[in-house]
Amino acid sequence: MKQVKFTAMENGDRQDYDLLCESFEEYTSNLPKRILDGLIELKTAYEGYQISRYEHSLQTATRADRNKENEEMIVAALVHDIGGTLY
Ligand SMILES: [Fe+2]
Repeated sequence: MKQVKFTAMENGDRQDYDLLCESFEEYTSNLPKRILDGLIELKTAYEGYQISRYEHSLQTATRADRNKENEEMIVAALVHDIGGTLY
């Protein structure tokens, strides 16, 4: 794995920051997959309710859609519980 040479950000050079930009772009390109993986994980997370957290998320997004919310709000409704799998 490539790494920067510095231990303090102020000592980084162009090559270091190009490396970090490349790494960040690669990481963020996987965001859609990580979001979908997070949604799938809700199928088995924190059980005990009559519906899974996955179903709850679909239900929440569907309600936002039916309420004619904008796309951003619908997506937010869909993913709002993903962080709950980190308990
Ligand atoms: Fe929720």
